[in-house]
Amino acid sequence: MQGRRLATTDEIIAIVSPDSEGPLETLTEWTTERGIGLSTVDVGDDIGAVYDESRATLGITLGGDGTFLEGVKTFAPREIPQLGVNTGTLAFLARVEPEDLEDALEEVLHGRAAVDSRQQVHVTAPGVDATGINDVMVQQVPPENPIDRKVTRLDVYADNEYIGEFEGTGLAVSTPTGSTGISLSANGPVHYPVNNHTLQIVPLHTHNLGVRPIVVSPETELRIITRGQASLLVDGGRAHTILSRDDEITVTGAAKRAHVVRTSYDDHFFTAITKKLGWNLRDATVPPEKQLEPPSHPGTAATDCEGMDTVERALTVATEAAKAAGEPLRELHGQVESIAVKSDKSDIVTEADHQADRIITTAVGNEFPDHAIFSEESTRQTGENTAYLWVIDPLDGTGNFAHGNPNYSVSVALIKDGEPVMGVVYVPETDELFTAIATQGAWRDGDPIRTTDRDRLDESMLISGYDPDGLFLSHFYQESRGVRRLGSAALNLCYLASGSADAVWEHDTYSWDIAAGLVIARAAGATITDESGVPFEFVLDTDDRRALLGSNGSLHPALLEHLADGLTTPVE
Ligand code: IPD
Ligand code: CA
Ligand code: CA
Repeated sequence: MQGRRLATTDEIIAIVSPDSEGPLETLTEWTTERGIGLSTVDVGDDIGAVYDESRATLGITLGGDGTFLEGVKTFAPREIPQLGVNTGTLAFLARVEPEDLEDALEEVLHGRAAVDSRQQVHVTAPGVDATGINDVMVQQVPPENPIDRKVTRLDVYADNEYIGEFEGTGLAVSTPTGSTGISLSANGPVHYPVNNHTLQIVPLHTHNLGVRPIVVSPETELRIITRGQASLLVDGGRAHTILSRDDEITVTGAAKRAHVVRTSYDDHFFTAITKKLGWNLRDATVPPEKQLEPPSHPGTAATDCEGMDTVERALTVATEAAKAAGEPLRELHGQVESIAVKSDKSDIVTEADHQADRIITTAVGNEFPDHAIFSEESTRQTGENTAYLWVIDPLDGTGNFAHGNPNYSVSVALIKDGEPVMGVVYVPETDELFTAIATQGAWRDGDPIRTTDRDRLDESMLISGYDPDGLFLSHFYQESRGVRRLGSAALNLCYLASGSADAVWEHDTYSWDIAAGLVIARAAGATITDESGVPFEFVLDTDDRRALLGSNGSLHPALLEHLADGLTTPVE
Protein backbone atom coordinates (compact mmCIF):
# COMPACT_ATOMS: atom_id res chain seq x y z
CA MET A 1 0.00 0.00 0.00
CA GLN A 2 1.23 3.47 -0.87
CA GLY A 3 1.37 6.09 1.89
CA ARG A 4 -0.09 8.65 -0.55
CA ARG A 5 -3.38 6.78 -0.42
CA LEU A 6 -3.75 7.68 3.27
CA ALA A 7 -4.18 11.34 2.31
CA THR A 8 -7.78 10.52 1.43
CA THR A 9 -8.59 8.99 4.85
CA ASP A 10 -12.09 9.97 5.94
CA GLU A 11 -12.60 7.68 8.91
CA ILE A 12 -10.46 6.59 11.86
CA ILE A 13 -11.25 3.58 14.01
CA ALA A 14 -9.32 3.54 17.27
CA ILE A 15 -8.88 0.44 19.43
CA VAL A 16 -8.36 1.79 22.90
CA SER A 17 -6.79 0.08 25.89
CA PRO A 18 -7.45 1.22 29.47
CA ASP A 19 -5.26 4.13 30.63
CA SER A 20 -5.21 5.81 27.22
CA GLU A 21 -7.58 8.70 28.09
CA GLY A 22 -5.07 11.48 27.33
CA PRO A 23 -4.16 10.33 23.79
CA LEU A 24 -7.83 9.52 23.12
CA GLU A 25 -8.79 13.09 24.00
CA THR A 26 -6.08 14.42 21.66
CA LEU A 27 -7.30 12.14 18.88
CA THR A 28 -10.93 13.19 19.39
CA GLU A 29 -10.08 16.89 19.18
CA TRP A 30 -7.83 16.37 16.18
CA THR A 31 -10.41 14.43 14.16
CA THR A 32 -13.24 16.85 15.08
CA GLU A 33 -11.19 19.85 13.90
CA ARG A 34 -10.57 18.18 10.54
CA GLY A 35 -14.03 16.75 9.98
CA ILE A 36 -12.70 13.19 9.99
CA GLY A 37 -14.97 10.51 11.46
CA LEU A 38 -13.79 8.76 14.63
CA SER A 39 -15.15 5.54 16.13
CA THR A 40 -13.64 3.91 19.16
CA VAL A 41 -13.86 0.37 20.48
CA ASP A 42 -12.37 -1.13 23.60
CA VAL A 43 -9.49 -3.48 23.10
CA GLY A 44 -10.85 -6.99 22.52
CA ASP A 45 -14.15 -5.77 20.99
CA ASP A 46 -15.02 -6.25 17.34
CA ILE A 47 -15.15 -3.25 14.99
CA GLY A 48 -17.88 -4.82 12.81
CA ALA A 49 -20.58 -2.43 14.05
CA VAL A 50 -18.59 0.73 13.29
CA TYR A 51 -16.66 -0.26 10.14
CA ASP A 52 -18.00 0.92 6.79
CA GLU A 53 -15.93 -0.56 3.97
CA SER A 54 -16.93 2.19 1.55
CA ARG A 55 -15.02 4.75 3.65
CA ALA A 56 -11.24 5.13 3.50
CA THR A 57 -10.34 4.00 7.01
CA LEU A 58 -7.19 4.28 9.10
CA GLY A 59 -6.87 1.99 12.13
CA ILE A 60 -5.18 3.33 15.25
CA THR A 61 -4.32 1.45 18.40
CA LEU A 62 -3.84 3.31 21.68
CA GLY A 63 -2.02 0.95 24.01
CA GLY A 64 1.10 -1.18 23.98
CA ASP A 65 2.15 -4.03 21.72
CA GLY A 66 -0.69 -6.23 23.06
CA THR A 67 -3.23 -3.70 21.82
CA PHE A 68 -1.34 -3.43 18.55
CA LEU A 69 -1.58 -7.22 18.10
CA GLU A 70 -5.33 -7.03 18.76
CA GLY A 71 -5.44 -4.30 16.12
CA VAL A 72 -3.66 -6.55 13.61
CA LYS A 73 -6.24 -9.29 14.25
CA THR A 74 -9.02 -6.82 13.48
CA PHE A 75 -7.54 -4.53 10.83
CA ALA A 76 -5.37 -6.86 8.72
CA PRO A 77 -8.20 -9.12 7.46
CA ARG A 78 -10.00 -5.97 6.27
CA GLU A 79 -6.80 -4.54 4.70
CA ILE A 80 -7.06 -1.47 6.96
CA PRO A 81 -3.69 0.27 7.45
CA GLN A 82 -2.75 0.53 11.10
CA LEU A 83 -0.83 3.06 13.18
CA GLY A 84 0.23 2.14 16.72
CA VAL A 85 0.43 4.75 19.46
CA ASN A 86 2.35 3.52 22.47
CA THR A 87 0.66 4.23 25.75
CA GLY A 88 2.27 1.14 27.28
CA THR A 89 5.84 0.54 28.38
CA LEU A 90 8.20 -1.48 26.19
CA ALA A 91 6.80 -1.50 22.66
CA PHE A 92 8.29 -2.70 19.40
CA LEU A 93 5.19 -2.39 17.26
CA ALA A 94 3.28 0.60 18.65
CA ARG A 95 5.94 3.13 17.77
CA VAL A 96 4.40 6.61 17.97
CA GLU A 97 4.71 8.25 21.39
CA PRO A 98 1.57 10.11 22.64
CA GLU A 99 3.27 13.52 22.51
CA ASP A 100 3.94 13.00 18.77
CA LEU A 101 0.42 11.82 17.96
CA GLU A 102 -0.86 14.98 16.27
CA ASP A 103 2.31 15.55 14.22
CA ALA A 104 2.38 11.91 13.15
CA LEU A 105 -1.26 12.12 12.09
CA GLU A 106 -0.60 15.29 10.09
CA GLU A 107 2.13 13.40 8.26
CA VAL A 108 -0.23 10.50 7.56
CA LEU A 109 -2.99 12.79 6.30
CA HIS A 110 -0.54 14.57 4.01
CA GLY A 111 0.23 11.22 2.40
CA ARG A 112 3.82 11.43 3.61
CA ALA A 113 3.87 8.34 5.78
CA ALA A 114 4.99 4.98 4.46
CA VAL A 115 3.06 1.74 4.75
CA ASP A 116 5.05 -1.45 5.36
CA SER A 117 3.51 -4.75 4.47
CA ARG A 118 4.17 -7.21 7.30
CA GLN A 119 4.00 -10.93 6.71
CA GLN A 120 1.65 -12.92 8.91
CA VAL A 121 1.62 -16.61 9.67
CA HIS A 122 -1.40 -18.88 9.32
CA VAL A 123 -1.79 -22.07 11.33
CA THR A 124 -4.29 -24.91 11.36
CA ALA A 125 -4.32 -27.76 13.85
CA PRO A 126 -7.07 -29.72 15.62
CA GLY A 127 -9.21 -26.99 17.23
CA VAL A 128 -7.17 -24.08 15.86
CA ASP A 129 -7.43 -22.02 12.68
CA ALA A 130 -5.61 -18.77 13.37
CA THR A 131 -3.42 -16.01 11.98
CA GLY A 132 -0.63 -14.27 13.86
CA ILE A 133 1.82 -11.49 13.09
CA ASN A 134 4.57 -12.76 15.39
CA ASP A 135 4.86 -16.50 15.77
CA VAL A 136 3.46 -19.97 16.28
CA MET A 137 5.06 -21.86 19.17
CA VAL A 138 4.82 -25.62 19.57
CA GLN A 139 6.20 -26.54 22.96
CA GLN A 140 6.42 -29.22 25.58
CA VAL A 141 3.68 -29.60 28.16
CA PRO A 142 5.23 -30.00 31.62
CA PRO A 143 4.77 -33.63 32.70
CA GLU A 144 2.56 -34.34 35.69
CA ASN A 145 5.11 -36.80 36.98
CA PRO A 146 8.60 -35.22 37.11
CA ILE A 147 10.30 -38.45 36.14
CA ASP A 148 8.38 -38.56 32.82
CA ARG A 149 9.89 -37.25 29.59
CA LYS A 150 10.32 -33.48 29.53
CA VAL A 151 11.25 -33.00 25.89
CA THR A 152 9.01 -32.65 22.88
CA ARG A 153 9.60 -34.53 19.66
CA LEU A 154 8.28 -32.99 16.49
CA ASP A 155 8.60 -34.33 12.93
CA VAL A 156 8.77 -31.41 10.52
CA TYR A 157 8.17 -31.32 6.76
CA ALA A 158 8.53 -28.46 4.27
CA ASP A 159 6.29 -28.91 1.21
CA ASN A 160 6.16 -32.63 1.99
CA GLU A 161 9.93 -32.91 2.17
CA TYR A 162 11.00 -34.34 5.51
CA ILE A 163 13.29 -31.89 7.35
CA GLY A 164 13.81 -34.06 10.42
CA GLU A 165 12.95 -34.59 14.05
CA PHE A 166 13.14 -31.55 16.33
CA GLU A 167 13.82 -32.63 19.89
CA GLY A 168 13.91 -30.18 22.79
CA THR A 169 11.53 -27.65 24.29
CA GLY A 170 9.82 -27.34 20.91
CA LEU A 171 9.97 -25.00 17.97
CA ALA A 172 8.68 -21.67 16.83
CA VAL A 173 7.71 -20.55 13.36
CA SER A 174 8.16 -16.81 13.36
CA THR A 175 7.53 -14.00 10.91
CA PRO A 176 10.19 -11.29 10.52
CA THR A 177 8.12 -9.18 12.96
CA GLY A 178 8.22 -11.97 15.53
CA SER A 179 11.81 -13.00 14.88
CA THR A 180 13.36 -10.47 17.26
CA GLY A 181 12.18 -12.00 20.50
CA ILE A 182 12.33 -15.62 19.34
CA SER A 183 15.81 -15.36 17.90
CA LEU A 184 17.20 -13.90 21.11
CA SER A 185 16.40 -17.11 22.90
CA ALA A 186 17.62 -19.36 20.10
CA ASN A 187 20.64 -17.58 18.67
CA GLY A 188 18.89 -17.21 15.36
CA PRO A 189 19.04 -14.22 13.06
CA VAL A 190 16.92 -11.14 13.62
CA HIS A 191 15.00 -10.42 10.41
CA TYR A 192 14.69 -6.84 9.28
CA PRO A 193 10.90 -6.86 9.08
CA VAL A 194 10.19 -4.12 6.54
CA ASN A 195 8.62 -5.67 3.43
CA ASN A 196 10.32 -8.97 4.28
CA HIS A 197 7.96 -11.92 3.89
CA THR A 198 10.07 -14.91 4.92
CA LEU A 199 9.20 -17.32 7.74
CA GLN A 200 11.71 -18.84 10.12
CA ILE A 201 11.66 -22.19 11.93
CA VAL A 202 13.53 -21.82 15.20
CA PRO A 203 14.34 -24.84 17.41
CA LEU A 204 13.82 -24.06 21.09
CA HIS A 205 16.34 -25.52 23.56
CA THR A 206 17.24 -28.16 21.06
CA HIS A 207 18.92 -31.32 22.31
CA ASN A 208 20.76 -31.84 19.05
CA LEU A 209 24.01 -30.08 18.39
CA GLY A 210 23.96 -28.58 14.91
CA VAL A 211 20.24 -27.96 14.60
CA ARG A 212 19.86 -24.48 13.23
CA PRO A 213 17.05 -22.04 12.40
CA ILE A 214 15.74 -22.46 8.86
CA VAL A 215 14.30 -19.71 6.68
CA VAL A 216 11.50 -20.55 4.24
CA SER A 217 9.27 -18.61 1.86
CA PRO A 218 5.72 -17.62 2.84
CA GLU A 219 4.41 -20.08 0.24
CA THR A 220 6.17 -23.04 1.88
CA GLU A 221 3.74 -25.33 3.66
CA LEU A 222 5.25 -26.54 6.92
CA ARG A 223 3.78 -29.66 8.48
CA ILE A 224 4.60 -30.45 12.06
CA ILE A 225 3.59 -33.83 13.53
CA THR A 226 3.60 -34.11 17.29
CA ARG A 227 5.24 -37.24 18.70
CA GLY A 228 3.79 -36.58 22.15
CA GLN A 229 1.61 -34.03 23.89
CA ALA A 230 2.41 -30.43 22.95
CA SER A 231 1.01 -26.97 23.46
CA LEU A 232 0.34 -24.67 20.51
CA LEU A 233 0.37 -20.89 21.00
CA VAL A 234 -0.18 -18.20 18.39
CA ASP A 235 1.16 -14.70 19.15
CA GLY A 236 1.77 -15.46 22.79
CA GLY A 237 -1.63 -17.03 23.41
CA ARG A 238 -4.05 -15.14 21.14
CA ALA A 239 -5.00 -18.64 19.98
CA HIS A 240 -3.92 -21.77 21.81
CA THR A 241 -4.62 -25.44 22.34
CA ILE A 242 -3.11 -28.62 23.73
CA LEU A 243 -2.31 -31.20 21.08
CA SER A 244 -2.07 -34.97 21.45
CA ARG A 245 0.42 -37.39 19.99
CA ASP A 246 0.35 -37.62 16.16
CA ASP A 247 -1.65 -34.46 15.69
CA GLU A 248 -0.80 -32.50 12.56
CA ILE A 249 -0.13 -28.76 12.46
CA THR A 250 0.09 -26.86 9.17
CA VAL A 251 1.84 -23.51 9.09
CA THR A 252 2.26 -21.22 6.12
CA GLY A 253 2.35 -17.52 5.25
CA ALA A 254 -1.07 -15.90 5.68
CA ALA A 255 -2.72 -14.60 2.52
CA LYS A 256 -3.45 -11.20 4.09
CA ARG A 257 -0.55 -9.07 5.18
CA ALA A 258 -0.74 -6.42 7.87
CA HIS A 259 -0.31 -2.85 6.64
CA VAL A 260 1.71 -0.99 9.24
CA VAL A 261 1.86 2.78 8.91
CA ARG A 262 5.30 4.21 9.56
CA THR A 263 5.95 7.90 10.16
CA SER A 264 9.09 9.89 10.79
CA TYR A 265 8.10 9.84 14.48
CA ASP A 266 8.82 6.12 14.70
CA ASP A 267 12.24 4.98 15.72
CA HIS A 268 14.10 3.24 12.96
CA PHE A 269 14.03 -0.54 13.51
CA PHE A 270 17.68 -0.82 14.54
CA THR A 271 17.44 2.20 16.81
CA ALA A 272 14.37 0.68 18.45
CA ILE A 273 16.07 -2.64 19.17
CA THR A 274 19.24 -0.91 20.30
CA LYS A 275 17.27 1.21 22.76
CA LYS A 276 15.07 -1.57 23.98
CA LEU A 277 17.33 -4.60 23.96
CA GLY A 278 20.84 -3.26 24.45
CA TRP A 279 21.79 -4.48 20.98
CA ASN A 280 25.48 -3.62 21.66
CA LEU A 281 26.53 -3.08 18.06
CA ARG A 282 26.11 0.61 18.69
CA ASP A 283 24.51 3.00 21.16
CA ALA A 284 20.94 4.15 20.85
CA THR A 285 21.69 7.27 18.83
CA VAL A 286 23.30 7.15 15.43
CA PRO A 287 26.37 9.41 15.33
CA PRO A 288 26.08 12.02 12.54
CA GLU A 289 28.95 10.51 10.50
CA LYS A 290 27.01 7.22 10.31
CA GLN A 291 23.80 8.78 9.10
CA LEU A 292 23.16 8.15 5.43
CA GLU A 293 20.74 10.01 3.24
CA PRO A 294 17.40 8.30 3.82
CA PRO A 295 16.62 6.04 0.87
CA SER A 296 13.89 7.30 -1.39
CA HIS A 297 10.99 5.68 0.36
CA PRO A 298 7.44 5.65 -0.86
CA GLY A 299 5.51 8.29 0.94
CA THR A 300 8.45 10.28 2.25
CA ALA A 301 9.57 11.86 -0.98
CA ALA A 302 8.19 15.31 -0.45
CA THR A 303 10.17 15.73 2.72
CA ASP A 304 13.27 14.05 1.30
CA CYS A 305 13.60 16.02 -1.90
CA GLU A 306 13.79 19.59 -0.76
CA GLY A 307 16.97 20.17 -2.78
CA MET A 308 15.31 19.12 -6.02
CA ASP A 309 13.79 21.56 -8.42
CA THR A 310 10.02 21.76 -8.83
CA VAL A 311 9.85 19.50 -11.87
CA GLU A 312 11.94 16.73 -10.29
CA ARG A 313 9.88 16.90 -7.11
CA ALA A 314 6.75 16.85 -9.24
CA LEU A 315 7.95 13.65 -10.91
CA THR A 316 8.41 11.96 -7.53
CA VAL A 317 5.03 13.08 -6.23
CA ALA A 318 3.28 12.17 -9.50
CA THR A 319 4.87 8.71 -9.43
CA GLU A 320 3.75 8.04 -5.87
CA ALA A 321 0.30 9.44 -6.51
CA ALA A 322 -0.19 7.42 -9.71
CA LYS A 323 0.94 4.22 -7.99
CA ALA A 324 -1.32 4.92 -5.01
CA ALA A 325 -4.24 5.51 -7.40
CA GLY A 326 -3.40 2.20 -9.07
CA GLU A 327 -4.32 0.29 -5.87
CA PRO A 328 -8.07 0.98 -5.83
CA LEU A 329 -8.09 0.66 -9.63
CA ARG A 330 -6.65 -2.87 -9.39
CA GLU A 331 -9.11 -3.76 -6.63
CA LEU A 332 -12.11 -2.44 -8.54
CA HIS A 333 -10.89 -3.96 -11.83
CA GLY A 334 -10.94 -7.32 -10.04
CA GLN A 335 -14.58 -6.71 -9.15
CA VAL A 336 -15.48 -5.77 -12.73
CA GLU A 337 -13.99 -9.08 -13.82
CA SER A 338 -16.15 -11.04 -11.41
CA ILE A 339 -19.38 -12.41 -12.82
CA ALA A 340 -21.28 -11.40 -9.69
CA VAL A 341 -21.10 -7.67 -10.34
CA LYS A 342 -21.52 -7.61 -14.12
CA SER A 343 -24.82 -5.75 -13.78
CA ASP A 344 -23.52 -2.77 -11.78
CA LYS A 345 -20.32 -2.31 -13.68
CA SER A 346 -20.95 1.35 -14.35
CA ASP A 347 -21.04 2.08 -10.61
CA ILE A 348 -17.66 0.43 -10.24
CA VAL A 349 -16.18 2.42 -13.10
CA THR A 350 -17.50 5.68 -11.62
CA GLU A 351 -16.09 4.68 -8.25
CA ALA A 352 -12.74 3.87 -9.90
CA ASP A 353 -12.56 7.28 -11.61
CA HIS A 354 -13.55 8.99 -8.39
CA GLN A 355 -11.14 7.20 -6.07
CA ALA A 356 -8.15 7.53 -8.38
CA ASP A 357 -8.96 11.20 -8.95
CA ARG A 358 -9.24 11.92 -5.24
CA ILE A 359 -5.93 10.27 -4.39
CA ILE A 360 -3.97 12.08 -7.11
CA THR A 361 -5.50 15.53 -6.70
CA THR A 362 -5.12 15.33 -2.89
CA ALA A 363 -1.47 14.29 -3.12
CA VAL A 364 -0.65 16.98 -5.69
CA GLY A 365 -2.68 19.61 -3.80
CA ASN A 366 -0.90 18.75 -0.54
CA GLU A 367 2.57 19.02 -2.02
CA PHE A 368 2.01 21.92 -4.42
CA PRO A 369 -0.77 24.00 -2.87
CA ASP A 370 -0.14 26.98 -5.14
CA HIS A 371 -0.28 25.05 -8.45
CA ALA A 372 -3.41 24.82 -10.59
CA ILE A 373 -4.85 21.33 -11.03
CA PHE A 374 -7.07 20.11 -13.83
CA SER A 375 -8.38 16.57 -13.71
CA GLU A 376 -10.85 15.01 -16.11
CA GLU A 377 -12.94 14.02 -13.11
CA SER A 378 -12.88 17.10 -10.93
CA THR A 379 -13.34 20.81 -11.37
CA ARG A 380 -10.45 23.03 -12.09
CA GLN A 381 -8.70 24.56 -9.10
CA THR A 382 -6.85 27.73 -9.86
CA GLY A 383 -3.56 27.98 -8.03
CA GLU A 384 -1.78 31.21 -7.18
CA ASN A 385 1.32 30.13 -9.05
CA THR A 386 0.04 30.53 -12.58
CA ALA A 387 3.21 29.07 -14.11
CA TYR A 388 2.29 25.50 -13.14
CA LEU A 389 -0.72 23.46 -14.17
CA TRP A 390 -1.25 19.76 -13.49
CA VAL A 391 -3.26 17.83 -16.08
CA ILE A 392 -4.59 14.50 -14.85
CA ASP A 393 -6.55 11.65 -16.35
CA PRO A 394 -7.04 9.35 -13.33
CA LEU A 395 -8.23 6.44 -15.50
CA ASP A 396 -7.47 6.42 -19.20
CA GLY A 397 -8.98 3.49 -21.04
CA THR A 398 -12.30 3.36 -19.21
CA GLY A 399 -13.85 1.19 -21.90
CA ASN A 400 -11.19 -1.46 -21.39
CA PHE A 401 -11.45 -1.15 -17.61
CA ALA A 402 -15.22 -1.64 -17.73
CA HIS A 403 -14.78 -4.90 -19.66
CA GLY A 404 -12.08 -6.31 -17.45
CA ASN A 405 -9.37 -5.66 -20.05
CA PRO A 406 -5.99 -4.81 -18.43
CA ASN A 407 -5.01 -2.12 -20.97
CA TYR A 408 -5.77 1.00 -18.95
CA SER A 409 -3.56 3.58 -17.25
CA VAL A 410 -3.22 6.54 -14.89
CA SER A 411 -1.88 9.70 -16.49
CA VAL A 412 -0.37 12.68 -14.64
CA ALA A 413 1.37 15.62 -16.33
CA LEU A 414 2.82 18.93 -15.25
CA ILE A 415 2.59 21.91 -17.61
CA LYS A 416 4.95 24.83 -17.04
CA ASP A 417 4.22 28.12 -18.80
CA GLY A 418 1.98 26.23 -21.22
CA GLU A 419 4.55 23.52 -22.09
CA PRO A 420 4.20 19.91 -20.87
CA VAL A 421 7.42 19.30 -18.91
CA MET A 422 6.82 16.18 -16.82
CA GLY A 423 4.74 13.08 -17.47
CA VAL A 424 3.93 9.92 -15.57
CA VAL A 425 1.85 7.07 -16.97
CA TYR A 426 1.30 4.11 -14.67
CA VAL A 427 -0.20 0.78 -15.73
CA PRO A 428 -1.75 -0.81 -12.63
CA GLU A 429 -2.25 -4.30 -14.03
CA THR A 430 1.36 -4.77 -15.14
CA ASP A 431 2.90 -2.42 -12.57
CA GLU A 432 4.73 -0.66 -15.42
CA LEU A 433 5.74 2.93 -14.87
CA PHE A 434 6.57 5.33 -17.71
CA THR A 435 8.09 8.65 -16.67
CA ALA A 436 9.75 11.60 -18.36
CA ILE A 437 11.09 15.08 -17.82
CA ALA A 438 11.14 17.07 -21.05
CA THR A 439 14.78 18.09 -21.04
CA GLN A 440 16.16 14.96 -19.42
CA GLY A 441 14.76 11.80 -20.98
CA ALA A 442 12.12 9.12 -20.66
CA TRP A 443 12.16 5.91 -18.65
CA ARG A 444 10.23 2.69 -18.16
CA ASP A 445 10.62 1.42 -14.61
CA GLY A 446 13.72 3.59 -14.30
CA ASP A 447 15.43 2.36 -17.50
CA PRO A 448 15.88 4.82 -20.36
CA ILE A 449 13.60 4.31 -23.37
CA ARG A 450 13.91 5.41 -27.01
CA THR A 451 11.71 5.25 -30.06
CA THR A 452 12.60 2.92 -32.95
CA ASP A 453 14.43 4.11 -36.06
CA ARG A 454 12.41 2.36 -38.81
CA ASP A 455 11.63 4.50 -41.81
CA ARG A 456 9.69 2.08 -44.02
CA LEU A 457 5.96 1.84 -43.58
CA ASP A 458 5.87 -1.79 -44.70
CA GLU A 459 8.19 -2.72 -41.80
CA SER A 460 6.32 -0.75 -39.16
CA MET A 461 3.83 -1.55 -36.44
CA LEU A 462 1.21 1.15 -35.92
CA ILE A 463 -1.24 1.83 -33.12
CA SER A 464 -4.55 3.43 -33.81
CA GLY A 465 -6.38 5.27 -31.05
CA TYR A 466 -9.87 6.59 -31.62
CA ASP A 467 -10.64 5.91 -35.31
CA PRO A 468 -14.43 6.24 -35.60
CA ASP A 469 -14.93 4.99 -39.17
CA GLY A 470 -12.00 2.61 -39.15
CA LEU A 471 -10.42 4.72 -41.92
CA PHE A 472 -6.91 4.68 -40.46
CA LEU A 473 -7.11 0.94 -39.96
CA SER A 474 -8.29 0.15 -43.48
CA HIS A 475 -5.97 2.69 -45.09
CA PHE A 476 -2.78 1.59 -43.32
CA TYR A 477 -3.39 -2.08 -42.59
CA GLN A 478 -2.08 -3.50 -45.87
CA GLU A 479 0.75 -0.98 -46.07
CA SER A 480 2.31 -1.82 -42.70
CA ARG A 481 3.14 -4.81 -40.50
CA GLY A 482 -0.14 -4.19 -38.73
CA VAL A 483 -2.38 -1.66 -37.02
CA ARG A 484 -3.32 -2.31 -33.41
CA ARG A 485 -6.32 -0.70 -31.70
CA LEU A 486 -5.75 -0.77 -27.93
CA GLY A 487 -7.79 1.74 -25.91
CA SER A 488 -5.69 4.03 -23.72
CA ALA A 489 -4.32 7.06 -25.58
CA ALA A 490 -1.81 7.78 -22.78
CA LEU A 491 -0.45 4.26 -22.98
CA ASN A 492 -0.34 4.25 -26.80
CA LEU A 493 2.14 7.12 -26.62
CA CYS A 494 4.24 5.18 -24.10
CA TYR A 495 4.37 2.21 -26.48
CA LEU A 496 5.62 4.58 -29.17
CA ALA A 497 8.20 5.95 -26.69
CA SER A 498 9.47 2.52 -25.70
CA GLY A 499 9.64 1.12 -29.22
CA SER A 500 6.83 -1.42 -29.23
CA ALA A 501 5.12 0.68 -31.91
CA ASP A 502 6.59 2.91 -34.61
CA ALA A 503 3.65 5.30 -34.86
CA VAL A 504 0.40 6.27 -33.14
CA TRP A 505 -2.75 7.82 -34.56
CA GLU A 506 -5.56 9.54 -32.67
CA HIS A 507 -8.44 10.80 -34.85
CA ASP A 508 -9.35 13.24 -32.10
CA THR A 509 -8.30 13.32 -28.52
CA TYR A 510 -8.70 15.45 -25.42
CA SER A 511 -5.67 17.19 -23.99
CA TRP A 512 -5.78 15.22 -20.71
CA ASP A 513 -5.66 11.92 -22.63
CA ILE A 514 -2.26 12.74 -24.06
CA ALA A 515 -0.59 15.36 -21.78
CA ALA A 516 1.70 12.92 -19.93
CA GLY A 517 2.19 10.61 -22.93
CA LEU A 518 3.25 13.59 -24.99
CA VAL A 519 6.15 14.40 -22.63
CA ILE A 520 7.18 10.74 -22.49
CA ALA A 521 7.04 10.18 -26.26
CA ARG A 522 8.82 13.42 -27.11
CA ALA A 523 11.54 12.87 -24.50
CA ALA A 524 12.11 9.41 -26.03
CA GLY A 525 12.64 10.93 -29.47
CA ALA A 526 9.14 10.94 -31.00
CA THR A 527 7.81 13.47 -33.48
CA ILE A 528 4.25 14.54 -32.72
CA THR A 529 2.20 16.56 -35.20
CA ASP A 530 -1.36 17.05 -36.30
CA GLU A 531 -2.71 15.23 -39.37
CA SER A 532 -1.06 17.70 -41.74
CA GLY A 533 2.41 17.62 -40.20
CA VAL A 534 2.16 20.80 -38.10
CA PRO A 535 3.91 20.24 -34.74
CA PHE A 536 1.32 19.30 -32.13
CA GLU A 537 0.71 22.14 -29.75
CA PHE A 538 -0.55 21.34 -26.28
CA VAL A 539 -3.59 23.39 -25.30
CA LEU A 540 -5.84 22.61 -22.36
CA ASP A 541 -9.28 22.90 -23.85
CA THR A 542 -12.18 21.09 -22.28
CA ASP A 543 -14.33 21.22 -25.43
CA ASP A 544 -11.85 20.67 -28.20
CA ARG A 545 -10.60 17.30 -29.39
CA ARG A 546 -7.74 17.26 -31.86
CA ALA A 547 -6.03 14.80 -34.19
CA LEU A 548 -2.57 13.56 -33.25
CA LEU A 549 -0.01 11.73 -35.32
CA GLY A 550 3.03 10.49 -33.41
CA SER A 551 5.95 8.55 -34.79
CA ASN A 552 9.59 7.70 -34.25
CA GLY A 553 10.44 10.67 -36.50
CA SER A 554 12.04 8.76 -39.36
CA LEU A 555 8.68 7.29 -40.36
CA HIS A 556 6.84 10.59 -40.26
CA PRO A 557 7.27 11.62 -43.94
CA ALA A 558 5.91 8.25 -45.14
CA LEU A 559 3.00 8.46 -42.73
CA LEU A 560 2.05 11.98 -43.72
CA GLU A 561 2.30 11.15 -47.39
CA HIS A 562 0.08 8.12 -47.06
CA LEU A 563 -2.31 9.98 -44.77
CA ALA A 564 -2.69 12.81 -47.31
CA ASP A 565 -3.34 10.17 -49.89
CA GLY A 566 -6.92 9.43 -49.00
CA LEU A 567 -7.63 9.00 -45.26
CA THR A 568 -10.68 11.19 -45.59
CA THR A 569 -12.09 9.09 -48.43
CA PRO A 570 -14.18 6.22 -47.10
CA VAL A 571 -12.84 2.89 -48.30
CA GLU A 572 -15.28 0.72 -50.29
C1 IPD B 1 -10.35 7.57 -23.79
C2 IPD B 1 -9.15 6.75 -24.15
C3 IPD B 1 -9.28 6.19 -25.53
C4 IPD B 1 -9.46 7.29 -26.56
C5 IPD B 1 -10.66 8.14 -26.19
C6 IPD B 1 -10.50 8.69 -24.77
P1 IPD B 1 -11.08 7.67 -21.18
O1 IPD B 1 -10.20 8.15 -22.51
O2 IPD B 1 -7.98 7.50 -24.10
O3 IPD B 1 -8.10 5.49 -25.90
O4 IPD B 1 -9.63 6.71 -27.83
O5 IPD B 1 -10.73 9.21 -27.11
O6 IPD B 1 -11.64 9.46 -24.45
O7 IPD B 1 -12.48 8.10 -21.43
O8 IPD B 1 -10.92 6.22 -21.08
O9 IPD B 1 -10.44 8.46 -20.10
CA1 CA C 1 -8.80 9.63 -21.24
CA1 CA D 1 -10.56 9.15 -17.99
